Amino acid sequence: MKIEENKSLKNYNTFGIDAKAKLFASVTTIDSLKNILKTNTETDIFVLGGGSNLLLTKDINALVLHINLKGIKIIEETDEAVIVEAMAGENWHEFVLHCIENDYGGIENLSLIPGNVGTAPIQNIGAYGVELKDVFESCKAISINNQTTKTFRKEDCNFGYRNSIFKNETKGKYVIISVRFRLTKNKHLLKTSYGAIAKKLEENHIVNPTIKDVSEAVIAIRNSKLPNPEEIGNSGSFFKNPIISGKEFNRFIAKNPTVPFYKLPENTYKIPAGWLIEKAGFKGKRFGDTGVHKNQALVLVNYGNATGNEIWELAKTIQKTVQSKFDIFLEPEVNVI
Ligand code: EPU
Repeated sequence: MKIEENKSLKNYNTFGIDAKAKLFASVTTIDSLKNILKTNTETDIFVLGGGSNLLLTKDINALVLHINLKGIKIIEETDEAVIVEAMAGENWHEFVLHCIENDYGGIENLSLIPGNVGTAPIQNIGAYGVELKDVFESCKAISINNQTTKTFRKEDCNFGYRNSIFKNETKGKYVIISVRFRLTKNKHLLKTSYGAIAKKLEENHIVNPTIKDVSEAVIAIRNSKLPNPEEIGNSGSFFKNPIISGKEFNRFIAKNPTVPFYKLPENTYKIPAGWLIEKAGFKGKRFGDTGVHKNQALVLVNYGNATGNEIWELAKTIQKTVQSKFDIFLEPEVNVI
């Protein structure tokens, strides 16, 4: 397999940052993946999926493995449900469209999320009231150390809000090679109550929506709010929505009575980071080639030639300002390298 040296990663991260990989290989088969891991045990390995949740502030002094495994197949099927397996290198949105074409339901709300299938479980991608964990059956991963294959079932993954075992205990230890999803075949459980979906369907005079209608509504909403990474570099939400205790919430709401919020179990509250960033005055602001998107303050953008450090500096300024104005810490959602 070809190992390239000093390779630009500009086309491999959705922020479009021109950082370099010391060594780089794109793997298209499981055998070649195992082989490259086996013959490079002394080298640091960096696993790269769709590069859609990554801010590169420096060059990567490691062997970057671009996981380019492709394929989608049915594992099990009944009249009601289907278990579909997709290889890690499949583009997430193309996989969603494939499922919709075949009338497999469950991931239509996750339309248009950038990234690949293999990285979706790592941060338990979510949007419009659905998270990956809702349809996740299992995934297969190769150990970087000894190249054995391990299956992670749902209960092994510790899925949480934009979180999983793959960001914690097993970080850097495995390469996810495929993911299995349990999807519905006819009695689809549509989730249209979240955000603007219902409104969008109503605007389009759709009374009994199909999964395709829901997907199209989500695509329209996302396109109206979120920048397309092919046009303006970005990584979706840069920060997580902070979760605060009931006590902190009471203090906060007294001073900020107009804030939208979601009540969570155990007397905790989720506050939209986008609202905090907007109220801190950053929405739509541009600083050189970096900035805060005009329609969604949670998204930091690269207008062309921003460096990872410039974006990270902006992120830190936002963190400091929000902290001093609201006494709330914003934790990045993206992986900052
Ligand atoms: N808001 C503002 N100003 C802004 C942005 C948002 O006031 O600039 C307010 C909105 O008015 C709304 C609330 O914040 O009341 C929530 O906004 P929105 O529905 O747009 O969602 P979000 O909480 O900002 C989350 C996810 C998105 C996902 C949407 C829809 C996180 C960190 N982000 O954003 O995920 O698409 O919900 O489900 O949880 C991503 O992770 O990359 C991503 C885009």
